[in-house]
Amino acid sequence: MTPLPTRRGVLAAGAVLLALWAAPALAEKRAFEMTIEDTRINLVEQRGFHTFAFNGQVPGPLIHVVEGDDVEVTVTNMTTLPHTIHWHGMIQRGTWESDGVPDMTQKAIAPGETYTYRFTAVPSGTMWYHCHVNVNEHVAMRGMWGPMIVDPKKPTAVEKEVTKDHILMLSSWASQWADKPGQGGLPGDVFDYFTLNGKAFPDTTPITVKKGDVLRLRFIAAGDAIHSIHLHGHVFEVAFKDGHPLPAPYKADTLLIGPGERYDIIVRADNPGRWMIHDHVDSHTVNGDKPHGGIMTVIEYEGIPKDQPWYHWAHKAPVADFYYEESLKAGKHGLLENPAYKGTPAN
Ligand code: CU
Ligand code: CU
Ligand code: CU
Repeated sequence: MTPLPTRRGVLAAGAVLLALWAAPALAEKRAFEMTIEDTRINLVEQRGFHTFAFNGQVPGPLIHVVEGDDVEVTVTNMTTLPHTIHWHGMIQRGTWESDGVPDMTQKAIAPGETYTYRFTAVPSGTMWYHCHVNVNEHVAMRGMWGPMIVDPKKPTAVEKEVTKDHILMLSSWASQWADKPGQGGLPGDVFDYFTLNGKAFPDTTPITVKKGDVLRLRFIAAGDAIHSIHLHGHVFEVAFKDGHPLPAPYKADTLLIGPGERYDIIVRADNPGRWMIHDHVDSHTVNGDKPHGGIMTVIEYEGIPKDQPWYHWAHKAPVADFYYEESLKAGKHGLLENPAYKGTPAN
C-alpha cells in the first residue's frame, strides 16, 4: 500500500517553497578603480581652482549601485598629499576599516599608494563620498567629493512616479587659496565662490522638463556653507532626508541644507514657464566681488520660447548630464564618469 504523505511532510514542502519565493536576489559584486589627481577646474569664467580630483573631475564620478551590492573600490593617490575616502551614509556593518578616517580606521593613503575599500551598499538612498584628511581644506575647497546613489530593492510609491532624476551638489570656495594646494581651510576664510555641481552661474545649466514630469532633485551639501534653496513657481515635497524616506513628507518652497546633509525633493511639473532655483542666502549668489552668480539655475519647460535676446541661455544648449540625469537612468549601474566635470592636469 502506498503511504499517504503526512500532514507534517506537506507543511515542510510548503515552507521550502515559501522560503525560495522570499529569497532576495543575489547581491552583485561591483569593483571600481579610482584615482586622486592634481587637477585644475574652472568654477566660472576664468576662476580656476587647484583641486585633488577623483578621476580628474569635480564633482567626482557617480557611484550608482543597488542596495545590498558588494562594493569594492581601489583608490590610487596620484597627488603629493595623503587622502582617504569616507563613504558618507554607508553603515559599514562589519567593515569599519573601510570607513575612511585617517588614524582611526586606516593609515591615510600616501602619495603613490593604493588602498582598497570593501563594503556592502546599505542603506539605500542619496549618499556621497569625500576625503577625510584635512576636510576643512580637501572637502571645503579642493573638490574631494562625489555622489553615491544606492537604489532601493523596494522603491517607495513616489519613487516609482519619478520621470526625471537629478543630483545637485552644493559647495563653497575661498579663492584666496585657489593656487595654494596644501594650504587653506582656516578660521576666518572668506568663501567668495559657490557652486552647483562645481560650476557657478552663468556657467550652470538649465534643468529641462515637460509638463507632467515628476522631478526628483537630490541635494547634497558638500561644502562648508548652509544653503537655503528656493524654487519659484512650485510647491515641492520634501520626501527623503539623508537618503531615508520620510514617514510624513512635507510641502515647502524653501529648504535649509547644512553641511553633509542630503534632501531629495519631488517637484511636479504642473506650471509651464521658466522658473528660477537658487540659494536664498544672498552672499551665496556672488562670484568673487560680483553679484548675480553662485548657486543659481532655472527650470525650463519644453515649449516655452527661448529666443528672447535678454535670456541668459537663449543661445546655449544645456550641458548634457550636468545633473547626472543621463547617468541616473534606470539600469545604468557602475562608476559613471562625466566629461562635463573634467579639469586639466595641474602640479
Ligand atoms: Cu584629501
Ligand atoms: Cu561626511
Ligand atoms: Cu528668488
